[in-house]
Amino acid sequence: MKKHLAGKVVVITGAGRGLGKALAEAFSAEGASLVLGARTSIEIDELAARLPNTIAVQTDVRLPRDVDRLVEAAMAEFGRVDVMINNAGLAIYGPVDDTTPDAVDAMIDTNVKGVIYGSQAAFRAMKAQRSGLIVNISSIAGKLHLPNEAVYNASKWAVNGFTGTLRLEAAKFNVKVSCVCPGGIDTPFWKAMDFYPFPEGIDPGRDFMSPEEVAQTVLEMALKSDRYVVPEVVMVPLL
Ligand SMILES: NC(=O)c1ccc[n+]([C@@H]2O[C@H](COP(=O)([O-])OP(=O)(O)OC[C@H]3O[C@@H](n4cnc5c(N)ncnc54)[C@H](OP(=O)(O)O)[C@@H]3O)[C@@H](O)[C@H]2O)c1
Repeated sequence: MKKHLAGKVVVITGAGRGLGKALAEAFSAEGASLVLGARTSIEIDELAARLPNTIAVQTDVRLPRDVDRLVEAAMAEFGRVDVMINNAGLAIYGPVDDTTPDAVDAMIDTNVKGVIYGSQAAFRAMKAQRSGLIVNISSIAGKLHLPNEAVYNASKWAVNGFTGTLRLEAAKFNVKVSCVCPGGIDTPFWKAMDFYPFPEGIDPGRDFMSPEEVAQTVLEMALKSDRYVVPEVVMVPLL
C-alpha cells in the first residue's frame, strides 16, 4: 500500500508517551522519517529502536538550545524538516490561589515557551526550504474558561494566539502553521495528577478520545494539499 509520507521528515516533541508516541507511530506508518524529542531518553530510545528511520534526541523544550539541537539533528540526519509537531505539554490543576510559582513556571515554560522555541527553530529551517507544516498541540482549554485550570487555560490560549500570528507570517514562505485543540485524551497525562478538573464519574479510559484518534487527525492535516492551510482543528469526545 502507498505510504503517503515516504521521504518526509517529521519532528515531534513530547514523543515518549501519550499523544506524542501515538503521533510517532501514525506518521511512521505512513513512511515518514522521525526525529523524536523528550526528556526521558528511555522512552524515545525505545520508539526509535522500533520504528524505521527514526532517531531520538533528549530534549527539554523549556531550553531553546535543546530545541535548536533537535531541529539541527533532523537537518544533519535527514537534510530537511517537513513537519514539526510541538506536542510536549503538562497540566497542574487546582484553584488559582493554590497554584504555586513552580506550577506556573512549569506550565508556562513548557506549554508556551516550548511551543514558541520549537516553532522558531522549525520555521527557520522551513523558511529556507520554502515549505513545511508546523502543528502546535493546544487544547480545548485554549478555547474555553474552565474552573481549576486557569494557568493551563492561559498557556493554551497563548499557544492559539502565537500560532495564529505565526501562520500569517509564515504563509508567504509557503510554510503552513496550525493548531489542534483536543478535548480529553486517554493518556498518562492524567496519571500525573492529584487534582482532576472533570466531574466525578468521568473515566478517561471509557469517555475520552484515544491518542490514536487524535494522532490520526494530525496526520490528516499533513496529508492535505499544499495549496491551503487548516488554521485550527477542535475535536472533543462525545460527552
Ligand atoms: N491528555 C489530554 O487530555 C489532553 C487534552 C488536550 C490537549 N493535550 C495536550 O496534548 C499534549 C500531549 O499530552 P499527553 O496527554 O500526551 O501528555 P503525557 O502523556 O503526559 O505526555 C507528555 C509528553 O510530553 C513530554 N514532556 C513534558 N515536558 C517536557 C519538556 N519540558 N520537554 C520535552 N518533553 C516534555 C513528556 O516526556 P518527558 O516528561 O520525558 O519530557 C511526554 O513524552 C500536551 O501539550 C497536552 O497539553 C492533552
